[in-house]
Amino acid sequence: MAMLGGHALFLGPQDIQLGVNESLRDTAAVLSRFNSLILARVFAHPDVQMLAKHSSVPVINALSDLYHPLQALADLLTLEEHFGEGGMEGKVLAWVGDGNNVLHDLAMGAVRLGMHVRVACPEGYEPDAEVMKKVQGHAQRKGGSLMMTRDPMAAVEGANVVVTDTWVSMGQEEEYEKRMRDFEGFQVNKAMMEKGAGKEGGKAGCVFLHCLPRHPEEVTDEVFYDEERSLVFPEAENRMWTVMAVMLSLVGK
Ligand code: NVA
Repeated sequence: MAMLGGHALFLGPQDIQLGVNESLRDTAAVLSRFNSLILARVFAHPDVQMLAKHSSVPVINALSDLYHPLQALADLLTLEEHFGEGGMEGKVLAWVGDGNNVLHDLAMGAVRLGMHVRVACPEGYEPDAEVMKKVQGHAQRKGGSLMMTRDPMAAVEGANVVVTDTWVSMGQEEEYEKRMRDFEGFQVNKAMMEKGAGKEGGKAGCVFLHCLPRHPEEVTDEVFYDEERSLVFPEAENRMWTVMAVMLSLVGK
C-alpha cells in the first residue's frame, strides 16, 4: 500500500479478534468506514465471506482454509514470466502433497489458462471435492484437464511445473506427527524433478514452485535452491506485484 501511495492499517491477532469480541458483521461495518479496502487473512473461509457480505468496501481473501487466490495470481505470473505470454497453454502442472487451499486456487487458475493439472495426494488428503468439480468445469471450457493420482512419480512424469506446500497448514499443528507419517514418499526431490520435461530453448523445461514458508520435509534443499529450476524467490516477489495489481483494480485505478 505504501508503494502505491496509500496507507495500511495492520490489525494482527493482538489488535483484533475477529468474531470474538464483536460480530464479524459489526467489524465489517466499522472497518468499511475507516478503509477503502479490507484484506483479510482468516482461518475459516465463511469468515471472509461474512466480512465481504457486510462490508461496503471490497474484501480481498488474503488466505482462508479453503482458498488462497492471491497466491495463485503470483504463481501464474511467475509461470508466465518463465514460459512467456500464452506459454502455459498445454503445459503440465503437477501438485505433489497436501490437497489444500493453495492447490484449490492454483488448479482453478491453471486449467483456465489451458494447463493440464495433475494432483498427487496421499489418501485422506485430497482437495475439496466441490472445488475440484469447479476445476473440472473450467478445464472443459478452456481446454485444460485435471487428473488425480496417489503416485507422485506418475504426476511428475513429463511435467513442466512441480508445486508443493507445507504438509501442516495453519490450524493443523496438532496433526503434525500423523501428517509426517502419512506424507511419506511425497517429498519433492531431485529424482522427481528429473522425471519432468527436459530443457526447452535453453531454459528449464520443468520448474519448481512453493508458496512459502517452506519446511524441509516437503522438498529437499537440492530442489528448493536449484538455481535453474526453482522459481520460489521470483514467486515470492510476485506476491507483492500481484496484490498491488488487485488493490489498484479494486479501487478503480
Ligand atoms: N497452506 C498454507 C499456505 C501458507 C501460505 C496454510 O494455509 O497455512
